[in-house]
Amino acid sequence: MPPLPVLLRTERLTLRRFAAHDAELVVALHGDPEVMHFIGTGRPAPRDTVLERTLPEFLSWPGRPGEPAAALGVWAAQAAATGEFVGWFELRPATPGREEAELGYRLCRAAWGRGYATEGARAVVEGAFGGPAGPVVRRITATTMTVNRRSRRVLEKAGLHYVRTFFEEWPDYIEGAEHGDAEYAVTYAEWAAARR
Ligand SMILES: CC(C)(COP(=O)(O)OP(=O)(O)OC[C@H]1O[C@@H](n2cnc3c(N)ncnc32)[C@H](O)[C@@H]1OP(=O)(O)O)[C@@H](O)C(=O)NCCC(=O)NCCS
Repeated sequence: MPPLPVLLRTERLTLRRFAAHDAELVVALHGDPEVMHFIGTGRPAPRDTVLERTLPEFLSWPGRPGEPAAALGVWAAQAAATGEFVGWFELRPATPGREEAELGYRLCRAAWGRGYATEGARAVVEGAFGGPAGPVVRRITATTMTVNRRSRRVLEKAGLHYVRTFFEEWPDYIEGAEHGDAEYAVTYAEWAAARR
């Protein structure tokens, strides 16, 4: 099978769409309790959920290199040097009309602490705001549990700024939930001004 085209590239990572043959990689990533500690129910996702819901959604994203559609969706991230799967990044439309999109990421435990999340998140922001067709969204947002300090640091280093802390009722208690969730954002105008 020919390799899938690289849609985004950083110094050390390549980001491409998912393929059916990535199934076991996603099952393992979403099945790791440490990775899932601050996400959803705070527990690993069952294999069936990943295969029946998550992966089909991942596979539904189109986009050829250079097209605006390539700047939104979900990407599998690989180490450029070795091809090793390191996790995924996402930028999902959050409002109609592509006004806002929400940034997210999930990396394999073995890939943490090497700056990959920061590098990939910056590339995703750059792809959405600085592509050849101009900005594909006006504002990028992200939310994370307040206690997820690694993720908050990544958002800050990717150029997003803290907006607010908010509290929602979640069906499952996760340690630290009493501190709420933190929202971050950056507009195209802010991103462009920071690069001047
Ligand atoms: C969040 C996540 C993507 C970070 O990945 P990563 O590759 O370790 O991130 P980076 O190496 O780019 O940067 C992490 C930053 O957090 C800092 N950090 C690491 N552990 C930390 C801790 N316990 N407390 C505070 N900061 C911490 C690092 O020092 C680094 O900042 P620095 O460059 O200023 O030193 C990764 O931990 C992950 O996938 N977690 C599980 C999924 C998840 O929580 N996703 C986000 C949901 S909102």
